[in-house]
Amino acid sequence: MTHGNELEEITRQLRNHHQEHLLAFWPQLDPRQRQELLGQIRELDLAKVDEWVERLVQSAPELPVARRDFEPATSYGPEPRSPAERRKYKEAIDLGEKLISRGKVAAMVVAGGQGTRLGFDGPKGNFPISPIKQKTLFRIFAETIQAVTQRYGATCPWYVMTSPMNHAQTVAIFKDNNYYGLDAKDVFLFQQGTLPNFDFDGRVLLEDKARIARSPDGHGGCIRALARSGALADMKRRAVEYLSYWQVDNPLVRLFDPLFIGLHALDGAEMSSRAVIKNSPKEKVGNFCLVDGKITVIEYSDLPDELAEKRRPDGSLAFELGSIAIHIISTCFVEKLSVEAYSLPLHKAVKKIPHIDPQGHRIEPKQPNGVKLESFIFDALPMARKSIILDIVRSEQFAPVKNATGEDSVEVTLRMMVERAAAWLESAGVKVPRNPDGSADCTIEIAPSFALDQADVPAKRDRIPPIQPGDKLYLA
Ligand code: UD1
Repeated sequence: MTHGNELEEITRQLRNHHQEHLLAFWPQLDPRQRQELLGQIRELDLAKVDEWVERLVQSAPELPVARRDFEPATSYGPEPRSPAERRKYKEAIDLGEKLISRGKVAAMVVAGGQGTRLGFDGPKGNFPISPIKQKTLFRIFAETIQAVTQRYGATCPWYVMTSPMNHAQTVAIFKDNNYYGLDAKDVFLFQQGTLPNFDFDGRVLLEDKARIARSPDGHGGCIRALARSGALADMKRRAVEYLSYWQVDNPLVRLFDPLFIGLHALDGAEMSSRAVIKNSPKEKVGNFCLVDGKITVIEYSDLPDELAEKRRPDGSLAFELGSIAIHIISTCFVEKLSVEAYSLPLHKAVKKIPHIDPQGHRIEPKQPNGVKLESFIFDALPMARKSIILDIVRSEQFAPVKNATGEDSVEVTLRMMVERAAAWLESAGVKVPRNPDGSADCTIEIAPSFALDQADVPAKRDRIPPIQPGDKLYLA
């Protein structure tokens, strides 16, 4: 097809799908820009675009399921609740350790988000968070992986999902930091896909005259991205069977937890989750519910108030299990999901989207002006043949840094990091100076090389000096 014919054909198709404005600035573009724009338009699946516009952009967000169908989900507790469960936990820990030491478990962090709420310029994984050494989130995770590798004598590959918006920067950060001491061949950085952005009338927005406005396709995009990037093939080559999945914002995450991995494997689960007991009915976390008998995450904004507030006779919340976005995902399940038939549903997010207007002027909106579409990894849960939940003690494993101030802020995360370290030392008999309000009157940072969890501390008791009020103590 000649260039002219192709342009005519594309114009006709765009007109049929009410997207002809994408070529509005064609006469002003140079040949390179024209090629670029045509390439982007060719990549648009216009039939799908029509479907998204009708089903998502122009209609109110649908609840995933009818309200009456929500039931609370149940979980394994942080400690066994019966002698039989005690035996099962022991068996699970043994199995989990065996799987890690045989190299069957890999790490995977999703780090493609734009992190706008934190107001940090650059990939969120590069945010310095540790209380004394100012280690970044990426460094903390890398040191944890290294410590696990040393403990179990196995290679634990690390898959890091980025997005086109932060991939080059993330790669440069890993290179500049020499992969934080990990072997570069065991760190696989791969990019998620993007989806076009829309105005409220369903028109695809232009970022500039030659470029369609697009945004990352959500953490659910990891399924397709794992397959497309070759990461899934890499896992298969290494005979990795389980992915330990987490979000880049949580420095307390326990990456390779033998109990969690072991319970997942013993129960024959395909995708499993960690949960916290929510600290309030409307805490901003996803809610684990049962829908048609399947574990399903319902976002806090979608859980009806009467269910969020519902209490059991003992006063506890009926829907008490909050998602902390930590999962074990079997690689065979990723493979199954990566087949089109299992594609995850898209959700609509109304956002402020910078774009150009029909006159070509750049608009930086002050109010939400359009729609982004995303898929969520937790929507895969109901597709799993079997799924289990294990709840955790919040102060041990969950301190996400999401906001500059207030809840889930840097200040809260820092405090939780210090308090966890203080609690670990106290459990080994170390005297930690405390303020009248009970908070630690000192700053402590424990490197993963010193302890991966509380149980590692007693053996190193003689390496811990006495702590005076106001001290800063770094243990590595
Ligand atoms: C998320 C969960 C919520 C959970 C909470 C726990 C959603 C919609 N909600 O909320 O159920 O209780 O965390 O902390 O996920 N990411 C990508 N690519 C994307 C979008 C996000 O890699 O396209 C990554 C981010 O880098 C981040 C993670 O996914 O690591 C979470 O994204 P974010 O948008 O911050 O989710 P939250 O609203 O905080």
